[in-house]
Amino acid sequence: MNPLNENVKDLNNYFINLEKMYPKSYNKQSVSPFTKTRIILMNGTEFESNWFLHQMARNIDNQDLKRDIALVRNQEQQQQKRISCLKPINENMLETTISYEQLAIELTAILAQNVKCKNTKASLDFALLEDFDHLYRFANLLHTDFGIDADILVGKFTEITPGRPTISHHRNPIDNVKKHMDSSKADLYTKLVANIITAAEQQTMNFYMNMSQMYKNDLGRKLFAEIGMVEEEHVTQYESLKDPNCTWLEQWVMHEYTECYLYYSAWQDETDEDIKSIWQEHYYMECAHLKKACECLEKYSDLTINDVLPKPSFPKLLSFGSNIEYIRQVLFNTANITSDMENYVDINSLDDSHRFFEYNNLINNAPDSEPGHMVINKHIKKFEQDFRFETEKNPIKELQNRKKDNTCVGRCKINSCNCS
Ligand SMILES: [Fe+2]
Ligand SMILES: [Fe+2]
Ligand SMILES: [Fe+2]
Ligand SMILES: [Fe+2]
Repeated sequence: MNPLNENVKDLNNYFINLEKMYPKSYNKQSVSPFTKTRIILMNGTEFESNWFLHQMARNIDNQDLKRDIALVRNQEQQQQKRISCLKPINENMLETTISYEQLAIELTAILAQNVKCKNTKASLDFALLEDFDHLYRFANLLHTDFGIDADILVGKFTEITPGRPTISHHRNPIDNVKKHMDSSKADLYTKLVANIITAAEQQTMNFYMNMSQMYKNDLGRKLFAEIGMVEEEHVTQYESLKDPNCTWLEQWVMHEYTECYLYYSAWQDETDEDIKSIWQEHYYMECAHLKKACECLEKYSDLTINDVLPKPSFPKLLSFGSNIEYIRQVLFNTANITSDMENYVDINSLDDSHRFFEYNNLINNAPDSEPGHMVINKHIKKFEQDFRFETEKNPIKELQNRKKDNTCVGRCKINSCNCS
């Protein structure tokens, strides 16, 4: 499937009126968990497109191009509004958060299993275990505060058990910047992966930035703030994979292409008929955006479409499903790693004077006051054990105890751990 071959109308035919911009929301009792993850992903993709085009407009001195950008950006906004209101009024912010983390986990696992670039795969596997742990912390908060079982919300497609504990995620920010790809050499799928995962993690980061203060109690607000800082780390990591030497116009073309790829994938994958038709409609809108971006590329620069998209047919489509075995294997092999400049290393290989320990101690001077840990302790106090959904025991022995939350994995060296 090549989106450049689609027969599309002029952009002015694609505006969405206000009535259409407010669609019927899904039914939270019967919706597929993957419909929810697709909605969050496309919401985040539209957010990224919108903000990318705002930044572009602020950095180019070309009135005609700015007018074209304003036109496309208006439609990205309309798409975003339409998608975000698919979430029903009766789904609370913590239930929505569970879907955000489920998306982060399943999307990351799918991309990691399909990408050929080793540098990109290493980043995906690394952050995968962190979002996996976030799901566990939020699920415990949800069960404590609302009595809702998160395993029902995730359809039992995703396990809920500790990953690399959240307390271990706080690294010195310089260790989150990774090597970038060279877009003249990278394959199309690798470029798509960097665009997709950056948009998805950024959506989560922004959601926590804007919503954490809305939660109903102090502990929940603290947990959103803590995990929000980790999402900042994830966005730093993923955006650093992109090739910064691409021009604004090249990047615009790739943004529209990414939207085409994702809407086409969502359209093929969707099980809800009403929502499927939205994905289909937005796919054709994106083909028109892509056509416009390509026209501008050739009009205002020396590059051709062929330079940016030499093989424009879609690579393997994105299709959601359960990845339990893959995630268990990554957890088993890499729970104890951290990031050291552009590499990932076992925590035990770091020198005691490494900035990781200094920064981590500065952020949590006492594990007992770390919100991620307090949430589990509160659940254990109330229900005598934590909340989990496991198909088998956690693959890491230290993370199997349901009555005592571990704060050492990925944070303390075996020979110098003082935690009891
Ligand atoms: Fe869009
Ligand atoms: Fe997360
Ligand atoms: Fe994340
Ligand atoms: Fe677009």
